[in-house]
Amino acid sequence: MSLDNAEIEKIKSEAISAISAAKSLDDLREVKISHVGDRSPIARANQGLGQLPVEERASMGKVIGTARANINQAFDDREKVLTAERDSTVLIEERVDVTLPTNRNPRGALHPLTILSNEISDLFVGMGYTVQEGPEMESSWLNFDALNIPADHPARTMQDTFFIEPLSSGLVMRTHTSPVQIRTMLENEPPIYVICPGRTYRADELDATHTPVFNQVEGLVVDKGITMAHLKGTLDHFAAKMFGPGVTTRIRPSFFPFTEPSAEVDFFYNGRWIEWGGCGMVNRKVLEACGIDTDVYTGFAFGMGLERTLMVKHGINDMHDIVEGDVRFSRQFGTGAR
Ligand code: PHE
Repeated sequence: MSLDNAEIEKIKSEAISAISAAKSLDDLREVKISHVGDRSPIARANQGLGQLPVEERASMGKVIGTARANINQAFDDREKVLTAERDSTVLIEERVDVTLPTNRNPRGALHPLTILSNEISDLFVGMGYTVQEGPEMESSWLNFDALNIPADHPARTMQDTFFIEPLSSGLVMRTHTSPVQIRTMLENEPPIYVICPGRTYRADELDATHTPVFNQVEGLVVDKGITMAHLKGTLDHFAAKMFGPGVTTRIRPSFFPFTEPSAEVDFFYNGRWIEWGGCGMVNRKVLEACGIDTDVYTGFAFGMGLERTLMVKHGINDMHDIVEGDVRFSRQFGTGAR
């Protein structure tokens, strides 16, 4: 390459026109490589200075230096212009209209316990049951005495039951949903087919598996010729609908004052038996206390915890998640729209 003023002038004007022709920062990046960087003609001219006769070097060096400075200046100017253009397009294209109305009432979600309780109610309504509710603050007669739970029964003690002051009120926070059985039998003639979901209370500390306020679902059937086979069939159907086809239950001998015989219900899930609740044939003393002719009618009852059902069904490990009421937890279970 020959080094003279005309050649440098040519290199400079080509570089500057390429720079001003760049339409975007991307174009400019390409121009930088071919006209400004280490391999550009002007950089190579600079490197060629060493081959010039000593007396020409100083003046040629000055010419090249000035040309280089002009190119760099042109580049910096163009870069500023293109950066400003890019910024203003981004401002327009990514504009947010802050005057648009916002959603100040973000949609909540049904609590998964509510969804589960609705599902269970639907299931039993589909089998001809009705849904029955009772008060959470209950007379201790309905919560205990009418259910054949004697005054010295451990469930009645201060550690288990929340008593309402003054104690002479005879009121407790219901410790189970079974008093709804009594209310139903006192108010209705058999045949009775009811499902009673609801909140229940026991003086437990809140931890990963316990909560003082929990939920149960009670089932009660009183009709002619009701046997334990009907109870078992109902439990199997219930378990399969809750946990998946083929999930079955087993019943183990147990004791409840209001059922005779009584049993614990377990269901078989993921290779193991999991405790689900209690059940049995309604004790004839209870039927009689409610004015039901035990020569004509028999009945079965069952009761299970909804929290435990929910935890197994959805793999929830910590009770705190269920009681804390964080809507982000609830939203994972969908809206519960039916
Ligand atoms: N009420 C019992 C409990 O809370 C469960 C149960 C209900 C047992 C109905 C038998 C029949 O432990």
